[in-house]
Amino acid sequence: MPRITADQVRQMKVHGERITMLTAYDYASARILDAAGVPLLLVGDSLGMVMLGHDSTLPVTLADIIHHARSVVRGSEHAMIIADMPFGTFQVSPEETMRQAVQLMKEAGPQAVKLEGGVRSAASVRLLTEAGIPVMGHVGMTPQSVNVFGGFKVQGKTEQAARSLLADVAALEQAGAFAVVLELVPAELAKLVTEQASIPTIGIGAGPDCDGEVQVLHDILGMFPDFTPRHTRRYAELGQLMSEAAAAYMSDVRSRTFPGKEQSASMDPAVIKTLREEFKKS
Ligand code: KIV
Repeated sequence: MPRITADQVRQMKVHGERITMLTAYDYASARILDAAGVPLLLVGDSLGMVMLGHDSTLPVTLADIIHHARSVVRGSEHAMIIADMPFGTFQVSPEETMRQAVQLMKEAGPQAVKLEGGVRSAASVRLLTEAGIPVMGHVGMTPQSVNVFGGFKVQGKTEQAARSLLADVAALEQAGAFAVVLELVPAELAKLVTEQASIPTIGIGAGPDCDGEVQVLHDILGMFPDFTPRHTRRYAELGQLMSEAAAAYMSDVRSRTFPGKEQSASMDPAVIKTLREEFKKS
C-alpha cells in the first residue's frame, strides 16, 4: 500500500473523514503505529521533552529531528511522515527555511514538514510548497514561543487574538499549506476556523470540532511522568506496566529463575567435560 499523500489528507476534509495523527520518534513505535493504521505520524519537536528530557522544545536541533525522523521513516510503510522544523530553522528568512527543509527532506525522507506560525511564516510556507515540499502549519499555542506566551496557555480567547488566529490560518491556506494544527485554542474558535478553512484543521486541546486530532504518543500511553496535559486522554498505562515489568525482571534475576533453559544455548557435553578436566588439573 502506498503512503498517504498530502492530497489525500485534503480529501479527508472534503469527505468528512476524521483525520488522526500521533507523534512517533523511533523505529519500534513507528512499526506498531503504522501497522495499527495510523495515517499520519508526526516526528514532533515534542521529542525534546518526552524523549530527551528538556523542559521545552527550544533546544531541539535539526540533527535531532533528522535522527528520529529517519528511524520513523524506516519503521513505516503506509503512514505519511511529517517532520517538525525545530526552533531556529525557519525564523531567519524564507531562503534559510528552504535550506533547512531541503536538508531535512534529503537526510530523513519524510513526506512533509511542519512549522509554527501563520502570517509570520507564510512566505516560507509558500517557498517550500512551490518547491514541492508539502507543509503543515501550526498555530494557536505554538510551543516554540512559550517564552512569549508565558507558559503553555490557551490562545485566541479575546476578539483580537481570535481574529489574528483566523488571519493566520487564512495566510497558511493561501501560502499552500495542506493542513494546519490548532493547539490550545477555545473549542468555539476552533469550530469557526474549521468551518472557514478549506484545508483540514488538526486539533490538540482545541475541542471536538476540528477535522482531526493529534496527540503526543507518550501522553496517551501514560509514558510521560512529568505532567499530563488536560487535553489528553490516557488509553494505556504503559509507564505503570514498564515499572511492573522491570520489578518482575529484577526479582527473577535475583532469584535465579531468569534466564532459564529456554533462554540458554548448550554445547557438546564432551567439549565442556574436556575443558573442565583440564582446569581441574591446573
Ligand atoms: O511537537 C509536537 O508533538 C507537536 C504536536 C503537539 C502538534 O507539534
